[in-house]
Amino acid sequence: EAGAVAVLVYNNAEGPVNGTLGEVNDGYVPAGGITRADGEALAALDGKDITLELRALMEERTTYNVIAETQTGRKDNVVMAGAHLDSATEGPGINDNGTGSVALLETALSMGSKPEVNNAVRFAWWGAEEFGLVGSTHYVNSLSFEQQLDIALYLNFDMIGSPNAGYFVYDGDDSAGEGSGPGPYGSAQIERAFVDYLEGEIGVATGEKDFDGRSDYGEFIAVGIPAGGLFTGAEGIKTEEEAAQWGGTAGEAYDSCYHQACDDLGNVDRVALDRNADAMAYVTGKYALSTEDVNG
Ligand code: PHE
Ligand code: ZN
Ligand code: ZN
Ligand code: ZN
Repeated sequence: EAGAVAVLVYNNAEGPVNGTLGEVNDGYVPAGGITRADGEALAALDGKDITLELRALMEERTTYNVIAETQTGRKDNVVMAGAHLDSATEGPGINDNGTGSVALLETALSMGSKPEVNNAVRFAWWGAEEFGLVGSTHYVNSLSFEQQLDIALYLNFDMIGSPNAGYFVYDGDDSAGEGSGPGPYGSAQIERAFVDYLEGEIGVATGEKDFDGRSDYGEFIAVGIPAGGLFTGAEGIKTEEEAAQWGGTAGEAYDSCYHQACDDLGNVDRVALDRNADAMAYVTGKYALSTEDVNG
C-alpha cells in the first residue's frame, strides 16, 4: 500500500532521538527499542511504504528534596541553606554538586550538636536542579505566602570546590552591574557577610557572581526572599587578573570537567572547598544568632 502511514516510536529514555528509516531497516535498534504508536506489529510493515515519525519518550521519575531543621530557634524567622544533591547525567558530579552538599551536611551536623539557636536553621538538599531547578522551585511554590514570609533568607551553595577555583560571592547589591539587578532587599548584607569572612578572616580576595538564574536561589529571589551564597566557577574562563590573585591557570575554565564524566573525586580544589565550607558555617551560624542586618 503506497502511502500507508505507520508511526514508529523510539523508546529512548535519554532523548532527543536521532536515527533514520535506513537505520531501522538495517536492523539498528536504539537502546529502548522501537514500537508502533498504533500497537501493530512491526513485521506488518515489511515492504510497505511508510512514514516515519520519531518521538522521544522521556522517562518519568520521582525525585526528592531532603530537608532538616534545628529543633530550636524561631520558626517565624527561619534561616535556610541549600545545595542540590543531584548531578548532571554525564558524570558523578563531585564538584557539581558533591562539594556544596557535603559542606552543608557538615554544617548541619555541627550545628545540630549546639544546644540552641535563636533562629531555626533549615537545611535543604535539592533534587533535580539539573533538570531545571525542579526541587527548589517546587519547594518554594508549595509554601503558603505566610510560610514564605517566615523565611528570613536563603543561602545557596552550588559548586564550591572547582579545580581552578574563583572565589565568587553572589552579588546581592549588583555592584558588579552585570544587568540582572540586585537581589531582594537584604541580599547586599548577605553578600557583605560572606565577603567580610573570606577577605577578613581567611585573607582571600573575592569576586562577584551575578544572580543569573542558574541555580536554586532562583525561586527564592523570585518571591522576594533575600539570598546569597558562594560559587567557585563552572565553564567560565579564569582571567589573568584572577589567576594573579587566586592562583590556578588563566585562560582555562574554572571547572574544565563541568558536566562531564571527569567531575570525579579528583576534580576538587580541597583548599577552596575548605575555605568555602568555613565561610558557609560562619555565615549560617551568624544568621542563626541574628538576622538583624538583613531584616532590620
Ligand atoms: N547551576 C549550575 C549547574 O548546576 C552551575 C551554576 C551555579 C552556574 C551557579 C552559575 C551559578 O550546572
Ligand atoms: Zn550542574
Ligand atoms: Zn550545580
Ligand atoms: Zn556586590
